[in-house]
Amino acid sequence: MTASLGVLASGRGSNFQAIQREIEAQTLDARIHLLLSDRPNAPALDIARTHGIDARSLPYDPANRQAFERAAGDALDAAGCHWIILAGFMRILTPYFIERFAGRILNIHPSLLPAFKGLHPQRQALNAGVKFSGCTVHLVTPDLDDGPILAQAVVPVLPHDTEDTLSARILTEEHRLYPEAIRNL
Ligand code: GRF
Repeated sequence: MTASLGVLASGRGSNFQAIQREIEAQTLDARIHLLLSDRPNAPALDIARTHGIDARSLPYDPANRQAFERAAGDALDAAGCHWIILAGFMRILTPYFIERFAGRILNIHPSLLPAFKGLHPQRQALNAGVKFSGCTVHLVTPDLDDGPILAQAVVPVLPHDTEDTLSARILTEEHRLYPEAIRNL
């Protein structure tokens, strides 16, 4: 059955684009019904529109996070989205949203969870001196970067890596892993 997806993105949108690319190549039986952003100038919005996907930004007030989440939840429901795909969504969701879509929210994080949760995981990996890192697709629960793990990919950390070179190596794997995890839902 075709998976009905809604995407939340704050920025560049390369993971979203990788998913959409596989949908268009018919290697992923899914459809993105709606992309929402908390940032009106997120490049992800323009990318979505060039693919004919309904893309909207909604106002985000950190002092009233549930206003965004209620509006986003209503729009995602109205568009018929079953799975909610976090693709570089840089806001922490409250239990309100997570319970509303319980077990149906996916995130990708650029580390081998449970290592290096939170911000700058690639920098955390370099500082820790690990020899391998990677990325994780997991279900979202109220604890940050903590839900059940659906898929992981490993990359080596090389001696002269910078945050940028390691991030790029991990990102290549993210673009393969996220569509694969959605395919296996
Ligand atoms: C990715 O590294 C993802 O793992 C993290 O934020 C970044 C988003 O990149 N959650 P993009 O917007 O998908 O290009």
